[in-house]
Amino acid sequence: MSIKKHIFSGIQPSGNLNIGNYIGAISQWVEMQKEYDCIFSVVDYHAITVKQKPEELKKRIINTTKIYLAAGIDPEKSIIFQQSAVPAHTELAWILNCYGARIADLNKMTQFKDKAGKNQESVSVGLYDYPVLMAADILLYNTEIVPVGDDQKQHVELARDIATRFNKEFGDAFIIPQAVVKKEGARIMSLQDPTKKMSKSDPNQNNCIILLEDIEDAKKKIMRSVTDSGSDVVYDLINKPALSNLLTIYAILGDRQIKRLEKDYSGKGYGDFKKDLAEVIEKFLKDFQEKYNNISDQEVLEILEAGRIKAQAIASKKLEEVRKLIGVR
Ligand code: AMP
Ligand code: TRP
Repeated sequence: MSIKKHIFSGIQPSGNLNIGNYIGAISQWVEMQKEYDCIFSVVDYHAITVKQKPEELKKRIINTTKIYLAAGIDPEKSIIFQQSAVPAHTELAWILNCYGARIADLNKMTQFKDKAGKNQESVSVGLYDYPVLMAADILLYNTEIVPVGDDQKQHVELARDIATRFNKEFGDAFIIPQAVVKKEGARIMSLQDPTKKMSKSDPNQNNCIILLEDIEDAKKKIMRSVTDSGSDVVYDLINKPALSNLLTIYAILGDRQIKRLEKDYSGKGYGDFKKDLAEVIEKFLKDFQEKYNNISDQEVLEILEAGRIKAQAIASKKLEEVRKLIGVR
């Protein structure tokens, strides 16, 4: 038995992954796989909580896996798999729907309220139940740590509550997981409005830099991004939210401390800073896209299949334990 901590996380193969996803989630995973036993899933059954075109979804599953690999997730070290390939996820989600999850909890989920908006009565039941499937993802693998961006903390809290309730009733089946978010970069903001999260579902594409986008377009987006009043390059979330966001992006993609950047740009204006940031973005995207383009679909399919076998072995064991505890076996 390995004594390394167990990590689980995932991203939906919907929309185009952007630097917010990379900075908030994936870059953290890459670091963690050095020390821990990690499992990273392409959570396709979460993606269908809103309508997806079948052909597009199929491509996105492959492409999202390529993004994990290009970012540095190593299939020799970590398990990479497609959620729908391991049926234990949906089965455990059903059991947790009955034992552990409560309507009152789901009614509190801010992501559901944001996504459903005024259409709460007409969106799919899946969108409402999505956090319970996420709890099943996490709990199947004895997960201790869930590295995510800030917006997923509430869902991990719910997984903890569900696990605690289940354990109290049936005995200690589940480890109680914990969300881990990055100190800097857990919430990368829109380039046009620093009060809004950079989001892959944002219709205004000027707000975000997509990992696979044209590099010249990405640079233009940086040059056009909003800044705050004043001209000093300093990190100040209250008075300079836009600049603080750009500094965070620079620090992480350019691998430099924010304090160091403040020093380097003291006496220089926003213009110089943005020009250099555009270059940092260029270098990062070029390197990333080169790696991405070198991965074949065939390679991805093989990695997902190897991952499925490993994930399945862990998940089916846990599920059988749960089936026994609730009395269906
Ligand atoms: P999503 O795009 O909602 O599927 O999110 C996938 C992962 O990226 C989750 O762990 C999110 O918390 C994280 N994430 C999404 N958007 C951002 C953002 N703007 N800043 C930091 N992390 C993010
Ligand atoms: N809900 C997460 C998101 O939208 C994706 C996700 C699904 C996930 N299952 C998970 C993240 C389990 C961490 C652990 O970003």
